[in-house]
Amino acid sequence: MPLVSSTPLLQAARAGGYCIGAFNVHTLEMLQAVVEAAVETDSPLIIQSTVGTVKHLGPEYIAAAATVASNMNRIPIALHLDHCTEFDLIVRCIRAGYTSVMIDASHSPFDENVAQTLRVVEVARPAGVNVEAELGKVGGVEDDIVVADNEALMADPDECAKFVELTGVPTLAPAIGTAHGIYKGEPKIDFERIKRIADKVDVPLVLHGGSGIPEEQVRRCVVLGMAKMNVATELRIVFSDAIKAVFAQNPEENDPRKYMVPAKKALKEAAIEKMRLCGSFGKAKDFR
Ligand code: 13P
Repeated sequence: MPLVSSTPLLQAARAGGYCIGAFNVHTLEMLQAVVEAAVETDSPLIIQSTVGTVKHLGPEYIAAAATVASNMNRIPIALHLDHCTEFDLIVRCIRAGYTSVMIDASHSPFDENVAQTLRVVEVARPAGVNVEAELGKVGGVEDDIVVADNEALMADPDECAKFVELTGVPTLAPAIGTAHGIYKGEPKIDFERIKRIADKVDVPLVLHGGSGIPEEQVRRCVVLGMAKMNVATELRIVFSDAIKAVFAQNPEENDPRKYMVPAKKALKEAAIEKMRLCGSFGKAKDFR
């Protein structure tokens, strides 16, 4: 089936009490691995690329690969642009075929965040493209965006309600204590805050920093209204470690297929595990 907007997928997930895995990919093999994981478990899927990857590969190449994957399979797939601060790049990705975009103006004051998000909603909505925005500041490192621990800021539930009302944004990523990258110790998730936000905001919520969140904590987040879980670092590590293992055994290896095959397999298994945590197995059939 063709690529779909993530809005109806995420609305169904929130209503159905499950979550959809959104996986950052950087190569064709990574894209294929998460697609194979979703097909095998009949899960809806969100493929994501960061701004860095979009600039590295070109959004047209990524959209073409995602479109082929989507057309070849009977699961709903959305293609999402992660953490973008540049309006022009968002427009280019929409033109290339992205079905979901994130405008990250969380570093700006509230009113500026509203204005930038509104501008994106106004171009995305007529194109049938989902928009995600962030409130508060998620800590850690994601591509070129670095937020030190002492700069991370939790989202305020009243501001979340006001933000959604003013922008009409269909999905919201509130900072609730998770961070990008690998946690030192356990994440300190503010579940009470998620509950207060979810009580005031009925759009699907997005959980950033999905690498390394313990199972029980993911499940609590999902029950409270988190409908999308972003995972990047953990998948990159699994993929790269599998490649390193091949070179450790055979430093002379020079056939990319020899190291990409085990890397793809390892990534697929890791993605399946995240889909299990999300509770998305078998949910793709609801969209056929
Ligand atoms: P991790 O790198 O911690 O998995 O976070 C991913 C993310 O939130 C991308 O937006």
